[in-house]
Amino acid sequence: MRRKLYLETFGCQMNVLDSELVLGQLRAQGYETVENRDHADVILYNTCSVREHAEQKVWSRLGELRDRKQADPGVVIGVIGCMAERDGTNIFKKFPHVDVLCGPGELDKLPRLIHNAVVTSDEATERRSDEGKRQVALMGASVRRSSTLAAAEDHLEMLDLSRSVSPGDDISQAYVRITRGCNKFCTYCVVPYTRGPEVHRPPTNIIDEVKMLVDAGTVEVTLLGQTINHYCFEHGDGRKTTFADLLYQIHEAVPDLPRLRFVTSFPRDFSDAALDTMRDCSRICRYLHAPAQHGNDRILKLMNRGYTVGQYLEFVARARERMPDVSIASDFIVGFPTETDEEFEQTIDLVRECRFKNSFIFKYSPRPGTTAIERFEDNVPEDAKRVRNNRLLAEQQRVCEELNREMIGQTVDAMVEGESKLVSRRTSKVELGWERRASGATTQLVARTGGDQVVCFQGDLSLKGQIVQIKITDARNMTLFGQPLTAPLVSPAMKSF
Ligand code: 5AD
Ligand code: SF4
Repeated sequence: MRRKLYLETFGCQMNVLDSELVLGQLRAQGYETVENRDHADVILYNTCSVREHAEQKVWSRLGELRDRKQADPGVVIGVIGCMAERDGTNIFKKFPHVDVLCGPGELDKLPRLIHNAVVTSDEATERRSDEGKRQVALMGASVRRSSTLAAAEDHLEMLDLSRSVSPGDDISQAYVRITRGCNKFCTYCVVPYTRGPEVHRPPTNIIDEVKMLVDAGTVEVTLLGQTINHYCFEHGDGRKTTFADLLYQIHEAVPDLPRLRFVTSFPRDFSDAALDTMRDCSRICRYLHAPAQHGNDRILKLMNRGYTVGQYLEFVARARERMPDVSIASDFIVGFPTETDEEFEQTIDLVRECRFKNSFIFKYSPRPGTTAIERFEDNVPEDAKRVRNNRLLAEQQRVCEELNREMIGQTVDAMVEGESKLVSRRTSKVELGWERRASGATTQLVARTGGDQVVCFQGDLSLKGQIVQIKITDARNMTLFGQPLTAPLVSPAMKSF
């Protein structure tokens, strides 16, 4: 009988990709995925440690599983990803029913860990102690030693290379990792500790992976890296492949790939060559997610971001000089220790000045193990954080609506992602049922432009995964609305003819 696996993913795109790779490996070992954890033999949480709130969600999931484990000691429960790495075996103290811990730098070992945990659970005729069953793989501090790092990297590279596409997988949009880890050590951030130092994947491996995905029907590839523009692969013979080189090489080597995008950019060290490549290669999306984090130089310094507001503005100007239509998104942290009202106002000014397409806004969350929690008291009261969060959100919404209204009348190419949630929330499943779809009736679809704007339009669900031309007719509540002008410009199905 095939074992049943439930996997829930929290956090960033890196985690989404890690989960996909883990699922591929476990499916190859005979696991079948289930939607309901009550039906699973193995329950995994791929976790995020960036803010406390993300961790709390996992704590509550694990708490809920206490009774299940008592009733069914054979079930295997695993915590993988950043929380496993950050909290380590302390997780067992709080949640003794957890069997497996696996950090993001050790995921190649996960199938073996689960296998061992399953076998020991099966053997539990006379029940073993919890400790006997536990399986742990964490990279710990050792990974910063270069020999250990090289070995770990070889294994992880194998995990990325193991990627395969099964019939039925929805792969019209796919992530491809180009770098792992981060060397920036922003004072508030756990990522350098949980994902380890920055490592760049060989360009040939990346290009082969993109080709494999496109052959299988992928329409849009998003390259992933924490500070993606720092990509630079040293070939060992003096040659280097920079981020600009890599973008160009993918664009040229995979002409059937309709859309290439990348996240996340670090605002410093973004080369003119990379911006020129974005401008000159028509299938690279003109979209930059380049988190500014704050609009005040003193706070940026406390955050160890390594740039000033002036330098950030200069980067935005260089991008817009080359691509006046480039759309730029940011992240911001409000309520960083010692942030004053005046300093916060400068973040509002930056949103106004840069006219970001959108911003992801977070209240500062002190994270154990980071420099910020050691150096600074979390002294901005929760109320002030909330007020600043809401004010920044409102300002960003105002900018977004303004930008969207300017788009009315324009024609955009947009990739159809599926049914609009705006509609599915309001309309019952029965109303959107098979009869209507089968009869060719349309529903409200959601599509994404190259600049990452969301467009809703009326169309048939069969357009999912295709790029269509849409004339923008309206802009409401941060969403664009439009009318499709043509038959799909690109469709994965069309390529087989
Ligand atoms: N508190 C609040 N926000 C954080 N981020 C990272 N660490 C923290 C923290 N400790 C935000 C940053 C980053 C995004 C992924 O999460 O804005 O860009
Ligand atoms: Fe965290 Fe800074 Fe690295 Fe981004 S660049 S992952 S915020 S340390």
